[in-house]
Amino acid sequence: MVGSVLITGAGSGIGLATARLLAAKGYRVYGGVRKEEDAERLRALGVEPLLLDVTREEDLLGAREALGGGGLFGLVANAGVAVAGPLELVPPSAFRQALEVNVLGVHATVRAFLPLLREGGGRVVLMGSVSGLVALPLLGPYAASKFALEALADALRVELTPFGVKVILLEPGSVATPIWERAERAAEGYLLPPPPGTEGIYGRYLEVARRMAQRSAQAGLPPERVAEAVLRALESPRPRARYLVARRDRAWQTLLLRLLPTPLRDRLLARALGV
Ligand SMILES: NC(=O)c1ccc[n+]([C@@H]2O[C@H](COP(=O)([O-])OP(=O)(O)OC[C@H]3O[C@@H](n4cnc5c(N)ncnc54)[C@H](OP(=O)(O)O)[C@@H]3O)[C@@H](O)[C@H]2O)c1
Repeated sequence: MVGSVLITGAGSGIGLATARLLAAKGYRVYGGVRKEEDAERLRALGVEPLLLDVTREEDLLGAREALGGGGLFGLVANAGVAVAGPLELVPPSAFRQALEVNVLGVHATVRAFLPLLREGGGRVVLMGSVSGLVALPLLGPYAASKFALEALADALRVELTPFGVKVILLEPGSVATPIWERAERAAEGYLLPPPPGTEGIYGRYLEVARRMAQRSAQAGLPPERVAEAVLRALESPRPRARYLVARRDRAWQTLLLRLLPTPLRDRLLARALGV
C-alpha cells in the first residue's frame, strides 16, 4: 500500500478511470460518489466509496471522519459539471451551479481535507480544463468556472508551500466521458427561450453547441490518459504547477488562441460559430 488518495466525482469518466488506475497501483483509494450504483462499481474495483456531494458541508465532514487519522497522500478534486449555452439564454441558477460545484466545491473540498494532507505530506491535484485557458463561445459558464479554478490554483499553490503540500492543476482538452451528453441534456432543461427576433442566430448557435458536444464526446482523449497524468502529478519528485493533457492539435490550438491578438481570435471563433 503506497498511501491514501481521495478522488471526488469518482463515479464516472476521469474520476472513475483515476480510481481504477490508482487502486491497481496499490494506493488505498477513497472515491466520492453520489449514487449507490456508483458506490457498487467502486467497491468491485477495490475502491472505498464515500457519499460525497462537494457542495454539502455535512458530506465533506462525514467523509473526513470516515477517513480517520493517518493522513492523505493525495486529494484529487475532480468533481465537476459542464454548464453551457449562449450566455443570454443561461439562467442564473444554472450558472450558479457551475460555480457552486467547480469552484466553491473545490475550495470546500480542499479546506476539508487540508489537515489530513498536511499530516500525510500529501498533494492536491485540481481538475482544470483547457476551458480555463481559452473561453470558447457557448461554453461561457463552464469556462468562467475553470478560469476561476486557475486563480484558485495559483493562490493555493503559494499559500501551501510552507506546509509542504504541493498543488498541481491538470488542464485536459476534450475527453470522452459522459460530461458532454449530460451537459446537453441539462441544457435542454434550463436554457431560456430566445427573445423575439433572435431565434435564427440562437438556433444556429444551439446547433453548433450540439455538434461541439458530440465531437468532444466522440473524439476526445480516453479518460485513462488523464488518469495517467494524475498519477504523474502525484508521484513525480518535482511535479509541474500545471499539466496540459490534450491531443497535440488541440494543445496547439489552445496555445495559438491564447497568443493571437483578440480581434483575430474573435474573428476565427465567430467563423466557427457560423456568424
Ligand atoms: N470530459 C472532458 O472533456 C473534460 C475536459 C477537461 C476537464 N474535465 C473535468 O474533469 C472532471 C471530471 O469530468 P468528466 O469528464 O469525467 O465527467 P463526468 O463523467 O460527468 O464526471 C463528473 C463527476 O463529477 C460528479 N459530480 C458532479 N457534481 C457533483 C457534486 N456536486 N458533488 C460531487 N460530485 C459531483 C459526477 O457525479 P454524478 O454522476 O453523481 O453527477 C461525476 O462523477 C470535471 O471537473 C470536468 O470539468 C473534463
